[in-house]
Amino acid sequence: MSTATTLSSQDVIALAKQHLIGNYTRYPVCLVRGEGSVVWDAEGTRYLDFFPGWGCGILGHCPTRVVEAVRDQVATLIHVPNTWYTEPQALLGQAIGERTDFAGKSFFCNSGTEANEGAIKLARLYGKANPGPNGPRYKIITMTNSFHGRTMGALSATAQPKYHAGVEPMLPGFLYVAHGDLDAVAQTIDKDTVAILLEPIQGEGGVNLPPTGYLEGLRALCDQHKLLLMFDEVQTGMGRTGKWFGHQHWGVQPDVMTLAKALAGGVACGAIVAKPGVAELLKPGTHAATFGGNPLACRAALATIETIEADGLLERAERIGERFSERMTALQDKCPLIREVRARGCMIGIELVVEGAPIVQKCLERGLLINVTHQTVLRLLPAMNLSDELLEEGCDILEEVLLAHTV
Ligand SMILES: Cc1ncc(COP(=O)(O)O)c(C=O)c1O
Repeated sequence: MSTATTLSSQDVIALAKQHLIGNYTRYPVCLVRGEGSVVWDAEGTRYLDFFPGWGCGILGHCPTRVVEAVRDQVATLIHVPNTWYTEPQALLGQAIGERTDFAGKSFFCNSGTEANEGAIKLARLYGKANPGPNGPRYKIITMTNSFHGRTMGALSATAQPKYHAGVEPMLPGFLYVAHGDLDAVAQTIDKDTVAILLEPIQGEGGVNLPPTGYLEGLRALCDQHKLLLMFDEVQTGMGRTGKWFGHQHWGVQPDVMTLAKALAGGVACGAIVAKPGVAELLKPGTHAATFGGNPLACRAALATIETIEADGLLERAERIGERFSERMTALQDKCPLIREVRARGCMIGIELVVEGAPIVQKCLERGLLINVTHQTVLRLLPAMNLSDELLEEGCDILEEVLLAHTV
């Protein structure tokens, strides 16, 4: 009953179709085991995974230090609520704070959307503590093609109508501005505005890098109007881009940052990280999460950070990004399907002139797992410890599939 690997893939798929809510589009593949950047299905088919855990598997599958830390912790203390102190949570707060440039203090939760919900509340608390002429400030500016999560607050912040369809009305107080347009942000700020929330590099929106001067300009606007600059680093955080946090490429400090996905190397964990002076607005009674910062997740996160540091993976992530770019840019000369290659460390987008779904399907048939976002952007979020050998193997498959594709 408790062993997940006794059934065939077809049996599992049939069972899932009968008993699970069908809200996901799934490939007919049942994965049972993973090691690094390789996963296997129930029948032993091997897949090279360039999208491990939708960005959660920053160290690939079952990284040794994380497995050992979780094994040790699970037999010691799995979960206690936040009415008590635990060493792993305190140490994780310290480890994150030391890696920020703003002495960030942490609140822990379980996912990206939950982290953003808390950040939205924090912005409103800030607006109450620092009101405008009309009273508490509450409006938050977000960017077109952003993605902040699926719960109602984070979804309202997500400036993509397709995700709102069917569950309107959205939470009031979010103003959407064209991504990259600093003047539009300046014109949108009014007396009720309290914060700007954005991903330093948009992920789901198509791996969109910020235009030159954009993040710096937003920081200046926030300083001028006493707004919080809030970076959603759920996808870009924890070393993925070659720095601990994506915004560090531009030297622009946020007031608040959210983390999740890779934070605990594949174990559920999220965080709000706020600078001193803002962090204190989350007082007892304002916010909480029962599972947030549990010892298991925090030990996994500490082991993830330790691995990234001990194995020099920030540098490795940069190298991986450079090599992907080299290969895909060279391919662009031979392959008219590629419009643009955008990469920062292990966050890679290959924009095509055609729909990407058939390419993803053909890669799957060849044993390579990748993703497509915004119809035309192939998205790769490979592990930071991907070996040269597997990197070249995956690029070879992608190259062959792209070259063979006829429109
Ligand atoms: C930038 C960003 N923020 C928030 C989220 C939501 O995270 P979660 O699915 O853990 O709620 C995602 C998920 O893809 C994301 O990419």
